[in-house]
Amino acid sequence: MDTRIFLIGFMGSGKSTLGAQLARRVGYQFIDMDHMIEETAEMSIPEIFNDHGEEVFRKWEYDILRELCRREKLVISTGGGAPCHSNMMDLMNTHGTTIYLKLSPEALKTRLIQSSTERPLIMGKSEPELLDFIKSLLEKRELFYKRAAHIVDGINLQSQTLEKLLMDS
Ligand code: S3P
Repeated sequence: MDTRIFLIGFMGSGKSTLGAQLARRVGYQFIDMDHMIEETAEMSIPEIFNDHGEEVFRKWEYDILRELCRREKLVISTGGGAPCHSNMMDLMNTHGTTIYLKLSPEALKTRLIQSSTERPLIMGKSEPELLDFIKSLLEKRELFYKRAAHIVDGINLQSQTLEKLLMDS
């Protein structure tokens, strides 16, 4: 098994929950990239977007990813936009195993409505606006997500399934 496992996918696809469970199963450290950025910046993600803008957030995201690519035995949950900016998808594919947690726009919408995490890109959207937003952004982002080493159905996904996938490949 690779020394770095990257979970990628749209906001609300379960990367952080499954990542923490998978890390426990395989005895790796779990890293949530968003949390790491927040700790380093001493600001929340919405504050970073608000005070510095998305471009600065992407730069910090890239810097953190570069740093993680030097560390070992990690399961990393990435931010939904990370694979689609700079050359982060290439970087992840070069330095570990990438797994795309794939869900339909409708399933993502349901999860995002129920989620308590503040996400600047979707704040203040009504349900129909949210669904349209997800559909159009997911279409663009899947060009990147689909370059993952593994693509798995994110509905009812268990960490055991991910562990087995990694052990068998
Ligand atoms: C983003 C996803 C978020 C976070 C930021 C931007 C995106 O992470 O990095 O709000 O561009 O899709 P999650 O995918 O963990 O929600």
